[in-house]
Amino acid sequence: MIALGIEGTAHTCGVGIVDENANVLANELDMYRPERGGIHPREAANHHSDVVVPLIRKATKIAGVKLSDIDLVCFSQGPGLGPCLRTVATAARALAISLDRPLLGVNHCISHLEIGVAKTGSVDPVLLYASGGNTQVISFNNGRYRIFGETLDIGIGNMLDKLGRELGIGYYAGPKIEKLALRGSKLLDLPYSVKGMDLAFSGIMTAALAHHARGERLEDICFSVQETCFAMLTEVTERAMAHIEKDEVLLGGGVVQNKRLRAMVGTMAKERGARMYVPEPKLCVDNGAMIAWAGQIMHRAGIRMSVQDTKVNQRFRTDEVEIPWR
Ligand code: FE2
Repeated sequence: MIALGIEGTAHTCGVGIVDENANVLANELDMYRPERGGIHPREAANHHSDVVVPLIRKATKIAGVKLSDIDLVCFSQGPGLGPCLRTVATAARALAISLDRPLLGVNHCISHLEIGVAKTGSVDPVLLYASGGNTQVISFNNGRYRIFGETLDIGIGNMLDKLGRELGIGYYAGPKIEKLALRGSKLLDLPYSVKGMDLAFSGIMTAALAHHARGERLEDICFSVQETCFAMLTEVTERAMAHIEKDEVLLGGGVVQNKRLRAMVGTMAKERGARMYVPEPKLCVDNGAMIAWAGQIMHRAGIRMSVQDTKVNQRFRTDEVEIPWR
């Protein structure tokens, strides 16, 4: 059984093709890069509509399959930016109807977790999902994937991007902040915003910019932001692991490419006698293969959707999804 998945919740449009054993036959993506400012949802959606058909062609060519070999069409149903979601949903519906194949809308956050489980050897992890738009700690408990902690304002990646823009170090600033932080050493005072099991990042950005205005070095600002934010993420992840007694932590999302974050979570896991799992970079970021794989699992579990069921959901919660496959 061959599944084609289309991802398009935010800046990335991706098309992946995956077989029933989680072999990734193709995983192509194209990222919308605004000339300045943040993501404009309508412009990102226009980008996706320009690239989605060429990506489908490219992915089928790389996978060595014809469109008629596709048995199942899947797409990211949410959460995400409305115009982007609607664009890829329309593409997926058109493809499924023209091929006369089943169509499944997939929860984006759950697909990060399922591809990690399929590809890393992790079985029942706590997922630390840290990306631009999302920051959640998720695990399976009591019949559902539940959110044990999450951001109360913006995703951590979004905060790093905004900070990068304000500091004049460019868009998609995470890797640049990571590089600068290596040369920082002074831990500046920033709000440590863990509220219960939830997190907040926008106040940290405001405080970091105030340090910048007072003339603190860029390197020390980046160092302090990373140390503070990653300690917060690690703390909430550890408390979730302790609470539900799990000994695996899985990383997902673009921000987990950061080596300092991995080192902190890795140390925490080691000290607890737990194991850390990290999927390869192309499966950590938003991608079509994870959508195709989550669709494979759903289809195998007997889930079917009519076109009416595939309405997009900008605020699609991880814990809304019925999980008959676990
Ligand atoms: Fe994501």
